[in-house]
Amino acid sequence: MAVRSLNCKECGAGYELGAAFFCETCFGPLEVAYDNSGMDAEEAKRKIQAGSRGIWRYSDFLPFEGERPGDPLEPGLTPLVRADRLAERLGMGEVWIKNDAANPTHSFKDRVVAVAVAKAKELGFETVACASTGNLANAVAAHAAAAGLSSYVFVPADLEEQKLLATGIYGTNLVGIRGNYDDVNRLCTELSAERPWAFVNVNLRPYYAEGSKTLAYETIEQLGWQIPDRIVGPIASGSMFTKLGRGITEWLELGLVEGELPTFCGAQAEGCSPVATAFADGTSVCKPQRPDTIAKSLAIGDPADGPYALDLARSTGGSIESVTDDEITAGIRLLAETTGIFTETAGGVTMGVLEKLARRGDIDSDERVVVYITGEGLKTLDAARESFRMHEIDPTLADFEREFAAEVVA
Ligand SMILES: Cc1ncc(COP(=O)(O)O)c(C=O)c1O
Ligand SMILES: [Zn+2]
Repeated sequence: MAVRSLNCKECGAGYELGAAFFCETCFGPLEVAYDNSGMDAEEAKRKIQAGSRGIWRYSDFLPFEGERPGDPLEPGLTPLVRADRLAERLGMGEVWIKNDAANPTHSFKDRVVAVAVAKAKELGFETVACASTGNLANAVAAHAAAAGLSSYVFVPADLEEQKLLATGIYGTNLVGIRGNYDDVNRLCTELSAERPWAFVNVNLRPYYAEGSKTLAYETIEQLGWQIPDRIVGPIASGSMFTKLGRGITEWLELGLVEGELPTFCGAQAEGCSPVATAFADGTSVCKPQRPDTIAKSLAIGDPADGPYALDLARSTGGSIESVTDDEITAGIRLLAETTGIFTETAGGVTMGVLEKLARRGDIDSDERVVVYITGEGLKTLDAARESFRMHEIDPTLADFEREFAAEVVA
């Protein structure tokens, strides 16, 4: 597809392909528009299958005007694993885990950042920046280092230590703000008007968001060119969730795959659940909230794409649910025990919601469900701390046997 323009999602006004993110007429968000004419579905599939082993195999569906250069940190083609023991525990039929922690900086944010940094280079920027809840910080710092660009990364100062360490190490300018993510985002929006920088999720947001479509493309390819029946995924700003829908819709319209949109189920933490609250209240507006949850990566109180996430859940017969901090920890444990995958708190939120949907009987036994695990457990270690006990013993047989006396030795 040839990239054509930036179009307003609300009034449809078209803009040039520059560093712009809102409509000058109605202030609606801008989205990349493509010219699909002349694309042959079979030829497009062949090109994908002959492409690189990562997101750049989908370059024809990404917002670039020239060819993609080599990328030493190419994200993507992360495992999609069938989780039968998880399905059994939850009384479900067919569950798949898309483990997007298996990316260069261990979250799905590598996808959006790889696209935004490549676009920043195409547009001639020398400095990239972001407002982050943690994972984006890791990814921007790393991809800027790999691309030889300088970077400024803005985060709430009280972020998990692991996420701060996994950012600063790349030699970025790490700025901790005394405030929450929404304060960070406000400052970055102001700064984007003052500095000649590519803020990946502010003035480059339309391009950045396109990177999440690759999660949808990969899922379809990995399922043998089929669409799942249901998707369960996390929501912070709502961008990834809505772009999963956009990616599938594009391939349906272009004839690369047949079927219909899955049922979309979104997951939020109760301590920051503006989209789940609007869903429950039946409104289309997300009232801003002040976050208070262990799921810091999802702690966006004023989500830019919340209304579009609501539309997608409602129009596909899905829902947007929230879970407590205890349910998040239990969700991390459930995934680890049944699949060997250790996820961060965002994955705990997603697992908690999957468990809730299964318990409520919302999911039919013949449904094929794909669950998006978007981040790595080693980045939020505090959430795992209280969930098990280590057996500490002296280095003697007797002590071992005393400790495990109650267990039957096979
Ligand atoms: C691990 C993880 N999952 C999901 C999300 C949700 O992203 P979005 O803002 O696109 O909804 C984030 C956002 O920071 C994240 O860090
Ligand atoms: Zn507009």
